[in-house]
Amino acid sequence: MTADRLSVTASAPGKIILFGEHAVVYARPAIAVPVWQVRAQVTIDPLPGNVEIDAADVARWYDLRDAPPDDPIATMVTRTCARLGVEPQGFAIHIRSTIPVARGLGSGAAVSVAVGRALAKFYATENTEREKSRSNSVSPVPSVAALSVEEISALAYEVEKLHHGTPSGIDNTVIAFEQPVYFVRDQPIESFRVARPFLIAIADTGVAAPTKIAVGDVRRAWQADRARYEALFDQIGAIARDARAAIERGDVGALGPLMNANQKLAREIGVSSPEIETLVDAALRAGARGAKLSGAGRGGNVIVLAEGENREKVERALMDAGAARVIVTKVE
Ligand code: PMV
Repeated sequence: MTADRLSVTASAPGKIILFGEHAVVYARPAIAVPVWQVRAQVTIDPLPGNVEIDAADVARWYDLRDAPPDDPIATMVTRTCARLGVEPQGFAIHIRSTIPVARGLGSGAAVSVAVGRALAKFYATENTEREKSRSNSVSPVPSVAALSVEEISALAYEVEKLHHGTPSGIDNTVIAFEQPVYFVRDQPIESFRVARPFLIAIADTGVAAPTKIAVGDVRRAWQADRARYEALFDQIGAIARDARAAIERGDVGALGPLMNANQKLAREIGVSSPEIETLVDAALRAGARGAKLSGAGRGGNVIVLAEGENREKVERALMDAGAARVIVTKVE
């Protein structure tokens, strides 16, 4: 029964963590914002038969039934369908993303959220079409509930656990809610006011660094010396709290030193890398007021406070120092 379904498309943005990565896994606060310049897009087309997954960006086209149990896309499809109360069958799901993989920009979470949104739309479409056709029917067709933002975020969180065992939940939250978040693990999501918008340059080190490895290394280091790591996480958490207050009162100038202090602590917990340090150094030398890694570290992206007259000089310096690309995003 695929005739009454329609093709649908949904998407989700990328994200950066402004403050507090890693410490957020240990229940300290962190701040993340969506990045609109990059997106994951999912199209679902009705197709008789089983579910086909077309993940062209990673050169894979496969049948849902052949997917390994830890396949993130297949898991999101089956869990979302289970939540919707439908059997996954009769469609092809096409995934395209401009979010670079393993660079701290939330590519995995964005794909999950876009898949969840697309499936909710696909079955809602079916439902609407069915409603029309059953106007004279005596036996009501069970309705397919739409998914709330919270539900999509929770489903994506389950998939995040496949990417790395102990995710904080910040990626799926900021991407599903599409707004700046002040995130504390296992607590209700808090948004906050950006009193004065500001620009952040996002510079790619060109090094893909899987979150799982950095998060696992930090966990082992924490297990070996809890007192030291708890103290470092406390300091990172305090920076995230101060940064939120600064953003809420429009004190963009205060953010630079806070980014630098966060970077120093990231270095101490062991998640920086020579490539990150080169870009941070280049940005600060060119006059930027603050720069740090964003996300799991060890590679991925560096973020730079790109305010003021030095902005173009900073962008050039980042490219000259070896950045694979630089995106400028507005936090508002
Ligand atoms: O997915 P990434 O690279 O942005 O890393 C997520 C941030 C961490 O704090 C390192 C892990 C987590 O689950 O919060």
